[in-house]
Amino acid sequence: MINRIIPIEKIRDSFKVLPLATKRRLLVVSIVQGALSILDLVALILIGSLGSLAVTGIQSLKPASSNTLILNIFGLSGASFQKQVAILGSVTAVLLITKTLSSAYLNYRIFFFMSTVSAQISSNLMSRYVNMTFLDIKRRSSQETLQALTGGVSSISNGIVGNFVSLVGDLFLLFVMVLGVSTIDPKIGIFTLFFFGGTALATYRFTARASTKIANSLLFENIASNNLVLTVTRMFREIATRGMLGMYANKIRNSRFRISKLEANQAFVPFITKYIMELTLIVGGLILTAIQFATENAAEAISGLAVFILASSRISPAILRFQQALLQVKAAVAGSSITFGILEELKGRSEILSNEVRFEVNHGGFVPEIHFESTLFTYPGSKKTIFRDLSIHIGSGEIVSIVGPSGSGKTSFADLILGQLTPQRGHVLVSGLPPKSAQLKYPGAIAYVPQEIYLFEGTIKENILLGFSEHEVHDNYIWDALKRAELAEWVNSQDERLDHRVSENGSNISGGQRQRLGLARALLTKPKLLILDESTSSLDKNTEIEIAKTISKLRGQATVISIAHRPAMINISSRVIDISRIKPNRVQKRNKGRVRVR
Ligand SMILES: Nc1ncnc2c1ncn2[C@@H]1O[C@H](COP(=O)(O)OP(=O)(O)O)[C@@H](O)[C@H]1O
Ligand SMILES: [Mg+2]
Repeated sequence: MINRIIPIEKIRDSFKVLPLATKRRLLVVSIVQGALSILDLVALILIGSLGSLAVTGIQSLKPASSNTLILNIFGLSGASFQKQVAILGSVTAVLLITKTLSSAYLNYRIFFFMSTVSAQISSNLMSRYVNMTFLDIKRRSSQETLQALTGGVSSISNGIVGNFVSLVGDLFLLFVMVLGVSTIDPKIGIFTLFFFGGTALATYRFTARASTKIANSLLFENIASNNLVLTVTRMFREIATRGMLGMYANKIRNSRFRISKLEANQAFVPFITKYIMELTLIVGGLILTAIQFATENAAEAISGLAVFILASSRISPAILRFQQALLQVKAAVAGSSITFGILEELKGRSEILSNEVRFEVNHGGFVPEIHFESTLFTYPGSKKTIFRDLSIHIGSGEIVSIVGPSGSGKTSFADLILGQLTPQRGHVLVSGLPPKSAQLKYPGAIAYVPQEIYLFEGTIKENILLGFSEHEVHDNYIWDALKRAELAEWVNSQDERLDHRVSENGSNISGGQRQRLGLARALLTKPKLLILDESTSSLDKNTEIEIAKTISKLRGQATVISIAHRPAMINISSRVIDISRIKPNRVQKRNKGRVRVR
């Protein structure tokens, strides 16, 4: 039940990712916020006595007994009625102003503090997220991942943690106010609690359901809409050829329209409560006035009403804030569902150690040898065993071609060497170490050129440096890599040379140029182990032969594993491994002679 009103588990999960110091600070903030409401309480008591003092004073009666106590505290029992009212009034005003100003200042500080909290959640999540495996990361669409790691994180920090802190403050305020009103006048206390609390609860049940539903729809509608936009930009040619551009434009328009409608609804939900609270205040005031004048004398009735008006001027906004904060928590829980899914998967996973990678071209100590020892590998959830008891040794300086029909496991073989996949049994060792350790110990000693080269929007230089700073790497290294990838001439012919801009995914250059840029990127650190996955497949025959020549020069210095079907690469290799013919548990012998494939 309580979980239906307040999503406690998600709130707890959100706090779990925060460092202890931050949690402590948030606790302090809540307490200070709550403590400020004591100022309100004192002001409330003073107003109550002012009210009755006014009535008794005007009628020249003796003050009520509760007032005598307050007047004694302030040392005003002997003072004139005017002086009593003036001093009590000023003290009340000062208290109320102090409370409002300190609340404003505290909230301002909380806003800034929350940005730190957001950064902390982000960094905690990211540094564990990148410690996941390639397979885990690939399971979600890039749009889902993007949402989870950006918008989803803000939902947790501001939406859940931030609102929870203000919620606790308001809860404390409400408690103190109701308690205060009840000590002055239990009847009014019970009335206030019942009236505002009841209305709040009734409206909350309805608005919370609506708000969660809207937030959920918004999350998935936004992802779907982004996916549509990306589909059109990525597959513009295919879609245009099918004559479907107009249809896609319409789909996007409809999706955006649904989002606008949802957003309008989401913006309106808090107003529902606001209007209902306004009505409650008016109706409550009327009812209480009737009760008061029917049951009390004029002095008591007016003093009671004054207390009610002041209490509700604090209580009703606090209930509104409380409710809206709760609604936002609920919406944020829905909006961060994918992020929570990732957090669940990350349970028990450690953070990746942050490291600086220096630019290195010597790779002393690295031995470019690969050992597969009785390796068993199956994709999780798949019935098909890709490698069963595979033992294979690839020695230093070999150039190995990996062949086999499509789907036979060539890319999986490369991914095992790269440590992107981990065998269920047996070992894969590179330079005597598990691949990931080898990569960390000898940065740049291993390089990989994928089948699909991704280029980001930026210059040729930036694309080749891939994270290294240009102050760290002399241009000579870049030119050398470009030469070896048979691309130097083309880059030289561009006006801006290394600063020539490549558009996202390399859409302003040819497929062959893209592949050669990918190769140059891999060659930058002069790797000792180079893994190429069909990396020359979209090159023309002559370029491929030139690149094959470059690679054959690496013989004896570096180990090259090349997944390739075409003769140019196979002809330079010292060994050809047909991945579909590997027999379990038999050490593959080197076949010295060249294998010719058409
Ligand atoms: N992430 C994955 N999950 C499940 N099966 C996969 C995954 N990736 C590849 N496979 C399957 O593993 C087999 C080998 O794939 P792959 O190594 O990519 O083949 P190749 O590169 O030789 O074409 C294929 O049957 C493919 O469908
Ligand atoms: Mg493949």
